[in-house]
Amino acid sequence: MTLITRNYSSPNVRNSLRVRVDYNNMLKTAVGEHGIDEKELEAMQPRLVSALETAEAKRDMMRWRDLYKTMPQLVNQIIDTAAFVRNNAENFVVLGIGGSALGPIAMQQAICHLHHNDLGKEKTGSPRIFVEDNIDPERMAALLDVIDIDRTVFNVITKSGSTSETMAQLLIITRILIDRFGERGVRDHLIATTDKEKGNLVGIAKKYNLRTFIVPDGVGGRFSELCPVGLLPAAVSGIDIRALLAGAEYMDGLCSEADPMKNPALMLAGLEVLAMENHGANIGVLMPYADSLKYMADWYAQLWAESLGKKKITENGTLRFGQTPVKSLGVTDQHSQVQLYTDGPFDKTITFIGVEKFRREVGIPHAFDDIPGVAFLSGHSLNELINAERVATEHAVTASGHMNKTIILPEVNEFTIGQLIMLFELQTAFAGELLGIDAFDQPGVEEGKNATYALLGKPGYDEKLKELKNTAVKDKKYII
Ligand code: PA5
Repeated sequence: MTLITRNYSSPNVRNSLRVRVDYNNMLKTAVGEHGIDEKELEAMQPRLVSALETAEAKRDMMRWRDLYKTMPQLVNQIIDTAAFVRNNAENFVVLGIGGSALGPIAMQQAICHLHHNDLGKEKTGSPRIFVEDNIDPERMAALLDVIDIDRTVFNVITKSGSTSETMAQLLIITRILIDRFGERGVRDHLIATTDKEKGNLVGIAKKYNLRTFIVPDGVGGRFSELCPVGLLPAAVSGIDIRALLAGAEYMDGLCSEADPMKNPALMLAGLEVLAMENHGANIGVLMPYADSLKYMADWYAQLWAESLGKKKITENGTLRFGQTPVKSLGVTDQHSQVQLYTDGPFDKTITFIGVEKFRREVGIPHAFDDIPGVAFLSGHSLNELINAERVATEHAVTASGHMNKTIILPEVNEFTIGQLIMLFELQTAFAGELLGIDAFDQPGVEEGKNATYALLGKPGYDEKLKELKNTAVKDKKYII
């Protein structure tokens, strides 16, 4: 378990580890005609103030915002359960999808060793971590090829307790566990995380006397990383979950600021909404310059897409909202996507994430001093190179007139990741308020879930099955 070596309530520590946002390149003054005019920002102030107020009135649907206050009561229980797993298991497997998987994946990648599973338990003190967020049969079979069931603990995570993908995985694993350990042995190999009363997992957990954690009310799947959905897998992998919550608390404080210009999440939301509404930015690229943050972009993509991708039926027709999130990784995608971001259409914003101080330093040694075209790199470090490339890409994108901004993490650690999660969650919630939509439902996702139930014969879905049959294209055309 990572030791808390810093006092995260100290103002000095907080200041030195504060996540910062540089939004200058979103403005006309930096990028020219396709940027946001400061007058647009000024004109938006009343809307921003009102978004802050309406979000405040929705506290019941935003209990994820209070998790740093409510979770500390559970932290000991989570750490005890994590200790049970760490002591007994070689493998910890999360079964879940969407909001029940993307957070754990992002967190592990951000904080743990980048080759955590290869490093071995002697070095990490933690089991290997697998998050199974798909039902590709080859993937499930492959997992079973590499884990020893006797030394594995599964954590099934589903808020609704009914998602077909997760339930199918659970059926497969429970059968294996019962066959091997008998019904009473299931408890030692399966932990449940679900709603307190809704869904089928509640009954299953009772039947097998499972260790069970609750997804609190008012905490939707994609906003659930800082409740047991994310905290248990994090604690199992040795992440300091108190520091995560401390980071979230700090950012919530910064984002409670009434002056919109000083409220980072509100400003980020306002800038993106202006970019969408006035500047045709239908695409939002998130481009971290750190492998550790690669899956934060995946987590963010779900948060932004599922929360804001909505329609509203009005007297004048159907209004549609949302901005398509694109995941990109610096520097890798400089050699794949950046050409589009510089010379392509003005239909996007780019948000870079930079890291000031990486946890490792890798110098670039001298070897080809006789070749000046290569030798200039020697004496620098990969740390310098990756940050220089970020600055260079920011420059190229800005010079080509495309709106961009940069979020700076002084370091990647639990405290800064806690801040980043809260920042993005609040940005999303505020953007929902600015757009006048419900950022906390997902009717499109539910529709897909219901259609799956109907296709596979779940009781109560006969009407849905008829609908599917009636609307299916009769004479399908194929290209080949
Ligand atoms: O954000 C959401 O609500 C969804 O993406 C869900 O997390 C996802 O559909 C999985 O649902 P559940 O946790 O109920 O299995």
